[in-house]
Amino acid sequence: MCGIVGFVGADASNRSVQVALQGLGRLEYRGYDSAGVATIGSDGTIHVVKKAGRLTNVVDALAKHPLPESSLAIGHTRWATHGGPTDQNAHPHLSFDGRVALVHNGIIENADELASELADRGIALASETDTETAVHHLALELAKDDDLLAAMCRLARKLRGSFTLVAIDRDNPNHLVAARRNSPLVVGLGEGENYVGSDVSAFVDETRDALELEQDTAVDVYSDHVVIVDFDGNPTQGHPFTVDWSVDAAVKDGYSTFMEKEIREEPTAVLETLRGRLGTDGKLRLDSSSISEDVFRRIDKIIVVACGTAAYAGYVAKYAIEHWCRIPVEVELAHEFRYRDPVVNEKTLVVAISQSGETMDTIMAIRHAREQGSKVLAIVNTHGSSIAREADAVLYTHAGPEIAVASTKAFVAQIAACYLLGLYLAELRGNKYVDEVADYLDELNKMPERIQKVLEQEPRITALAEELKDKDGFLFLGRHVGYPVALEAALKCKEVSYVHAEGYAAGELKHGPIALIEEGLPVFFIVPTPRRPELHAKVLSNVQEVRARGAHVIVIAEEGDDSVEEFAHQVFRVPLSTPTLMMPLVTVAPLQLFALRLAQAKGLDVDKPRNLAKSVTVE
Ligand code: AGP
Repeated sequence: MCGIVGFVGADASNRSVQVALQGLGRLEYRGYDSAGVATIGSDGTIHVVKKAGRLTNVVDALAKHPLPESSLAIGHTRWATHGGPTDQNAHPHLSFDGRVALVHNGIIENADELASELADRGIALASETDTETAVHHLALELAKDDDLLAAMCRLARKLRGSFTLVAIDRDNPNHLVAARRNSPLVVGLGEGENYVGSDVSAFVDETRDALELEQDTAVDVYSDHVVIVDFDGNPTQGHPFTVDWSVDAAVKDGYSTFMEKEIREEPTAVLETLRGRLGTDGKLRLDSSSISEDVFRRIDKIIVVACGTAAYAGYVAKYAIEHWCRIPVEVELAHEFRYRDPVVNEKTLVVAISQSGETMDTIMAIRHAREQGSKVLAIVNTHGSSIAREADAVLYTHAGPEIAVASTKAFVAQIAACYLLGLYLAELRGNKYVDEVADYLDELNKMPERIQKVLEQEPRITALAEELKDKDGFLFLGRHVGYPVALEAALKCKEVSYVHAEGYAAGELKHGPIALIEEGLPVFFIVPTPRRPELHAKVLSNVQEVRARGAHVIVIAEEGDDSVEEFAHQVFRVPLSTPTLMMPLVTVAPLQLFALRLAQAKGLDVDKPRNLAKSVTVE
């Protein structure tokens, strides 16, 4: 997820760059590992300043070497997906002939094909990004008719994946062109100047009059008018709206907290994590790996090391990877792993899961593993992070920056990435055929829509939180892959609502925790699908045991599972026919939302809970 801004004014001035930088400052929550701006000078050339690191590095560079006055500017603040956070990989990217500059948000799935077409024409890539393939192809299209809008539409028809593209043409400095598919783009309408942005925070300081653009549309932006077409060049309309949010709310996409915004982004986080994972040979691939396929084939044990929510994603992974790959998977809290003298050798694959990639406990664990001869594969959300750099292989989640201290969208993205790893290993080791892997990927690709559907129950979840806000203890119970979800739900409640909340394996109830059950105690159950009777029946009997002792029973169950109705005070539904192994992707969402609403009902600071930090960089 990156931040994009574009500005077109009537006359050349410094205002172009100023507005672009202001917009990028508002957009840094969308990504901040590198940034850049481009303008067209009176000399008819495109000037670009771009730097790794935060936007301030660009501001500092411009203080020393200002960009020329211009009637337009485009800017980008990056959350890396392809290629680490370096000056070279930062946007804007310049075409081989210097005529076009382009910024991009999204993932171009056919970048490899586009790159080989460029190689055939002798056009080499200067960066590691998928975006650069697009800027060179755009220049090739523009050379055909000098029509930037038509060229952008022809390019858009060539691309697969998700993209918001904004481009400028040095030969026509009076307009910019943008296009979108599966990635956001809005137009801001000013007085004698116009803007584009990833969202309204890009230009809300300048105007509150905006246009929403539909899927597969392109827009030609001048200082005094805009032209909108579909990718076949047919005229179409944007949808006018007035931004009635404060700037602060705009940065949170209109939600009151980053935590809610990020829970709502879970469908996109899963979708983008799954996107573009198949190579041109149709087989799954990692983002980077120095581990040979033979080494992967010789692995006889996997140990997942992580902390907190990331560890619970690892617990889910255990069920899937063991079932698909028939390899034993241990899940260890990173800070425990290192000191228990683990049995690790060259046939052990250590998988480190981390949103920040900077958790010191996890860093120290992978260092210990590597000293024992193990290979390390990292599942991280942050490009260029310490864990990504120190691992032998990396599988990035594409959840975008996670600002709230409580991890939510990263959790589901980590689970999706773990499934990809399991299917990658199963295919490589011959446990699953390509068609079976394809079937699982088809099911995975249905999950974003299913998560979206579950989140529609928000009003009832909010009401439940209001009803339970004075309770001082909560129990979460699940079995099989529902158990890690119970742990995660309990952690969310602890973190943001400061209440005692315990997650347990439902089967453990009779071994002690049932003593906790008393009149009115809220007990949440994650109930497996009835299509897995050996699990469903046991959890249902746990529900009955708890209800019989007076607890306030809340159940997460599959649509159509009426067996839970008579024992539950409230039932929240997850879509029918979700594969059991993938259920955590839908069962966790209502529970995270509940923790959020409970904290809000208590008037607590959801995004910055007491005593906590977003990344624990000390042991
Ligand atoms: C989760 O909500 C917490 N903020 C915390 O448990 C977190 O998951 C843990 O510190 C690991 O962080 P990481 O994913 O950045 O390594």
